[in-house]
Amino acid sequence: MQSKVDVLLGLQWGDEGKGKIVDFLAPKYNVVARFQGGPNAGHTLEFDGIKHVLHQIPSGIFRNDIINIIGNGVVLDPVIFKKEVEALDKYSIDVRANLFVSKKTQLILPTHRLLDAAYEEAKGKKKIGSTLKGIGPTYQDKVARQGLRVGDILSENFKKKYSKLVERHLEILSHYDTEYNLKAVEEEFFGAIEFLKTFDLIEGEYKINRELSSGAKILAEGAQGSLLDIDFGSYPYVTSSNTTTSGACSGLGVAPNNIGEVYGIFKAYCTRVGGGPFPTELFDEDGERMQKEGNEFGATTGRPRRCGWVDLPALKYTIMINGVTQLFMMKADVLSIFKTIKVCTHYKLPDGTVSDIFPYEIVDQEIEPLYKELPGWNVAIDKIDEFEALPDELKSYIQYLENELKVPINIISLGPDRTQTIMRNGVLA
Ligand code: GDP
Ligand code: IMO
Ligand code: MG
Repeated sequence: MQSKVDVLLGLQWGDEGKGKIVDFLAPKYNVVARFQGGPNAGHTLEFDGIKHVLHQIPSGIFRNDIINIIGNGVVLDPVIFKKEVEALDKYSIDVRANLFVSKKTQLILPTHRLLDAAYEEAKGKKKIGSTLKGIGPTYQDKVARQGLRVGDILSENFKKKYSKLVERHLEILSHYDTEYNLKAVEEEFFGAIEFLKTFDLIEGEYKINRELSSGAKILAEGAQGSLLDIDFGSYPYVTSSNTTTSGACSGLGVAPNNIGEVYGIFKAYCTRVGGGPFPTELFDEDGERMQKEGNEFGATTGRPRRCGWVDLPALKYTIMINGVTQLFMMKADVLSIFKTIKVCTHYKLPDGTVSDIFPYEIVDQEIEPLYKELPGWNVAIDKIDEFEALPDELKSYIQYLENELKVPINIISLGPDRTQTIMRNGVLA
């Protein structure tokens, strides 16, 4: 009874609410697996009045009897991993029984973080706005075929391999004006490596495919968002992994024909943290109100998130790239403060052309968003628990988006808590 992997991923620039929905859906699955990114991610879960932020551990970890896998496509910082696991200690979760790490997962070394900071600093005004967790340099070493992987920590030569790579990093760093005390962080790093050894380090791709063959239901949890994808995002203002559906295949060892549903998750508006283009960004009072009402501050870095209206050309693009089969709309409650809701339907390019294509030139050109206005609902909705009870204006907004995007919106999220979630169409039942 071969099963398929369903994929949940962000359709914008990250922070769409992936953590909340993975936790919400997890009881319908046997396995939750992260397939890319690393501690640049901050996935927030809220239930029983407590807020949790996960960075590398999959968001199924709070549900009983669910296997969580960190896949080969991830870049793992062992120091942050140790802290994350220790933060879970006070809850009655058997982390070691429920969490597995692929031996092919790449390791983030302390010098990767130093390189990240040095490269960013050198970019001056063209900073990416990296989270400085060492993501870019670690993926660089992976592609350069010189990275260290989790499986390497079991080898007797690990320290030797480590020193060889660090030597290369220090040579590069000597060309930058950086100060560091490597000794202090190395001690913590090797302590965390010993800690990581106490976990089940596995052949992730075999585990996942065996689970699939036995009919287990698997949910792949994306990190970042599709517009941060290394190939299809707003390059070079992107992260260093494939955040799109294909990343789930290469990041877990799943064949494309074993992908089932693709859940595309988006905010009822749009945010971005870090540098780079954002056509619908608001620089006025509306943007400030959105940021305040949505509590738009980064879960990993605490940085304020830039805010703007929903962008249909960008959403149509990421739905296409990902093969999205179902949409989930988050944070509709935040828009309750507005009398009018705007939706960007097209872009006007500098030469006067109007288009609904997310253009290659997005980074270098001033693109003017063209808006359609819809009536707002302007009443509190965070306590509503069924679709029928939603205000008509919100139902019209949903219908308008569905008509434009040609994919059903099957979850509507009305607040950060697990319970503030409405399912419709019975598709997920
Ligand atoms: P992720 O990276 O995609 O998991 O998203 P983050 O956790 O970085 O950011 C989403 C933020 O919005 C978190 O603070 C969530 O608690 C919060 N959130 C999620 N869904 C909703 C919602 O429907 N309404 C409101 N008001 N907040 C939400
Ligand atoms: P989650 O999973 C939002 C952004 C950074 C920066 C760019 C590159 O919580 O949605 P990196 O550290 O990867 O080199 O940063 O990508 N970025 C995110 N923005 N949510 C995230 O993750 C992000 N992870 C990276 O702000 O602009
Ligand atoms: Mg986040």
